[in-house]
Amino acid sequence: MKLAVGSDHAAYEFKMDLLKYLEEKGIEYEDLGSHSAERTDYPIWGEKVARKVAAGEVDAGLLFCGTGVGISISANKVRGIRAVVCSEPYSAAMARRHNNANILCMGARVVGPDLARMILDAFLHSEFEGGRHAKRVDLISAIEAREER
Ligand code: RB5
Repeated sequence: MKLAVGSDHAAYEFKMDLLKYLEEKGIEYEDLGSHSAERTDYPIWGEKVARKVAAGEVDAGLLFCGTGVGISISANKVRGIRAVVCSEPYSAAMARRHNNANILCMGARVVGPDLARMILDAFLHSEFEGGRHAKRVDLISAIEAREER
C-alpha cells in the first residue's frame, strides 16, 4: 500500500508524528507537503494529494489541517475523490466499508496523537463492501458527472 500525505501549517507537527507511525508500520508514503510549519493555505495541499489519488498513483490519501474540514472540502473538488473528516475510528472504518472513501482527513486541533493512530488504523484496515453500497457510490459519481456537463 502506498499513501499520499499532505497538511497545512496547523497540522504540520501532527502529520510528522503520523509519518513516524506509518514508518513503524512499514507503510509506504509520499509526503507532498507542506514541508514546514510556516503559514500556508490548505487548498494547495488538499488538491495535490487529491490529484495523486484521483490519478491512481497511490492507493489512498491522508490530509490534515486544523479541523480537517477545509482540506477535505478542497480535496472533494477533485473528480473521483471521496474525502472524509473523521474524529473517531467507527466513522473512519464505515467510510471505507460503505462509502469507499479514498482520502482520510483529520484535524490536528481536534484529535490527539493516540486517537489519530486509532482512526488511521480503522481507515487502513477496512475494505469497501461493494454490493448495495457500490450503487450508492455510483450515484455520488453521477452527481459529479452532472456537475461537469
Ligand atoms: C488554519 O488556521 C485553519 O483555518 C486550517 O488549518 C483549517 O482548520 C481549515 O479548515
